Amino acid sequence: MTNIIFFRKAICLILIICICYTNAFAFSYSEFSQLPDEVKNAINKKTLGQKFNAPISSSRSHDNQAQADKEKWNKKYQNNPIPDRPIKLITDFAELAPGKQALDIACGMGRHSKYLTSLGFKVDALDVSSLAIASLQNIPNINAKEVDFDNYTLPKDQYDLIICTFFLKRELFPQIIEALKMGGILIYETFVYHPDNGQVPSERSYLLEEGELENTFKDNLELIESREYWDETMKGFKMKKASIVGKKKK
Ligand SMILES: C[S@@+](CC[C@H](N)C(=O)[O-])C[C@H]1O[C@@H](n2cnc3c(N)ncnc32)[C@H](O)[C@@H]1O
Repeated sequence: MTNIIFFRKAICLILIICICYTNAFAFSYSEFSQLPDEVKNAINKKTLGQKFNAPISSSRSHDNQAQADKEKWNKKYQNNPIPDRPIKLITDFAELAPGKQALDIACGMGRHSKYLTSLGFKVDALDVSSLAIASLQNIPNINAKEVDFDNYTLPKDQYDLIICTFFLKRELFPQIIEALKMGGILIYETFVYHPDNGQVPSERSYLLEEGELENTFKDNLELIESREYWDETMKGFKMKKASIVGKKKK
């Protein structure tokens, strides 16, 4: 009799433990899936990675992503005004363009668009930040437009000069070639992934791989300049950068 009571109690205890464990897992997984991507990334990397290994970002729609990018950059531009000085690559090479129609991809607050107008260019300045685009309205020869490059296609055969600095969206690479007129110039500079970089970006996909910029464009552009080098970010972090200048082959 004592044995039967003991056996029943043990079965009850095991059942209770099983129910608690199942609930705890279901609760923590649903909580986990609602966390921001940065937190999910951190958790995945540390203790719970193998347990959940949840896909990051797959559930976020393009619209949500664009809204997030817009808010992030509006906030940055509101709180930290960025330098207005153009980078040397632009001042050294912009005048190689055969005509005056230019495109500034992810123009930000427009330091390069403004510089290009001083050289006589007419510039299409495109960016997802409404704050940046608003700041560029009513400037002669700048046509500033709020666009999300996740949902935007560049016009073909349109530009004598295309510039892109510190922005990377690989889907744009073939469009950039098509958007250039024959003999048009591309000037591109942005950060490269390296373990010794001083500032870790939120996503590796925002960084070039070593050699990637040159390898991507060398078949369609006559390269005038191509290099990878160490430099400092605006906040003084050591970062690897790549830059190219090329002319669209006839
Ligand atoms: C590091 S800033 C570079 C700004 C400018 N090119 C410069 O060098 O001063 C990156 C820019 O990319 C823009 N951006 C980020 N995601 C974008 C997207 N999906 N579509 C369009 N612009 C985007 C941001 O609003 C921001 O202005």
